[in-house]
Amino acid sequence: MQSTPSGAGDYAGSGDLNTVKADLPTRFRAHAQVMERHGRSPLSVALMQGAADDLEKGGIVAELYTGVPLPAGQAPALRLLAALHRLVLSGEAPDLAAYYPSMGGNEPPEGAWKVAEVTLRAHAAEIGAVIRRGVQTNEPGRSAVLFGVLLWIADRYRRPVRLLEIGASAGLNLLAENFAYRSSGALLGDPDSALVFEGPWVSTPVDDPADAQEHLTVIERRGCDIAPIDATSRDGQLALLSYIWPDEPKRLARMRAALEVAEEHPPLVDDAPASPWLRQVLAERQRSTVQLVWQSVFAQYLTSEDRDELTVTMEAAGKLATDDVPLVWARMEPSTDPLKGFGVSAICWPGGEETLLARSGDHGPPVRWTNA
Ligand SMILES: C[S@@+](CC[C@H](N)C(=O)[O-])C[C@H]1O[C@@H](n2cnc3c(N)ncnc32)[C@H](O)[C@@H]1O
Repeated sequence: MQSTPSGAGDYAGSGDLNTVKADLPTRFRAHAQVMERHGRSPLSVALMQGAADDLEKGGIVAELYTGVPLPAGQAPALRLLAALHRLVLSGEAPDLAAYYPSMGGNEPPEGAWKVAEVTLRAHAAEIGAVIRRGVQTNEPGRSAVLFGVLLWIADRYRRPVRLLEIGASAGLNLLAENFAYRSSGALLGDPDSALVFEGPWVSTPVDDPADAQEHLTVIERRGCDIAPIDATSRDGQLALLSYIWPDEPKRLARMRAALEVAEEHPPLVDDAPASPWLRQVLAERQRSTVQLVWQSVFAQYLTSEDRDELTVTMEAAGKLATDDVPLVWARMEPSTDPLKGFGVSAICWPGGEETLLARSGDHGPPVRWTNA
């Protein structure tokens, strides 16, 4: 399967973290507006707008969300969209499937809400269960970012890497080395992979990626999540596919290819919250290795207390870092400036200096490395 840049431009995510005082219909509409502005998923936009109207009328969506805690950043509209997509993908909502390109449907999105509303009423219990869970996306496109970060680390430190991912979901990005990346005529990563990224980078993370790859050895890859998904189970696969916008066929194909790779290399994701897990795994450090802590689109799903605890945990671990066992905390998160897409940065200890490595799309490509 081949994956090309989506042309995501500078879409900076749902923006839901900035909705501290907004009511639910406003949050749905704000998410729909930002997607519409960037030409993303007309079906999702139509469904979010229909749901916002329904919330204002006190309809089925309002009933389903009653009593569900939704702090800012939780992107509540994504939960409803995933719940509907899951029903469609599992064949339980054939009328609605007519609007879902992911199931071959081609009805215009404008008519989808009426059918979705009927579907929500018919499957309220199942939908309610998904809505109560947090957002469980796992976007393998972000491996195009992580693989570049790994090359940057290999080039800089020239020693084996322990890859430790927090908020890993199903751990598909722990497989970054098992995917292939075509860049400036070279095929990096695993050339036999079922998932090939075609030109995911604008510029390169290091001057000579092929040389950096020669120095890249990942000796351990492990993640944690408070609700890990098993990418090798049917239920887990359905959950992962359901979070992808139904009218983005390239992303669906990319996910299916990543799931094929995961069957061969099942990712290891521990069921644990980030900070306690990090304290434990970082203490298991080995001589002459780099400890890389990686996170993508994760911070907004934490409470402010959890975010503070994570900073304290990483700074404490940073103080123990040495030239022999350096620590890197690399993050891909929405930029605070919505015009700048997603920022990819790394804090390196000893020292604790932060470097902006790249700007990327929300799902990875196109990745613009600052090295250029
Ligand atoms: C939006 S998903 C992103 C998943 C993955 N990093 C990616 O980029 O595809 C956020 C993930 O963070 C997890 N999560 C939320 N709070 C957490 C915590 N305190 N510790 C560990 N994982 C957490 C969620 O369960 C979810 O799988």
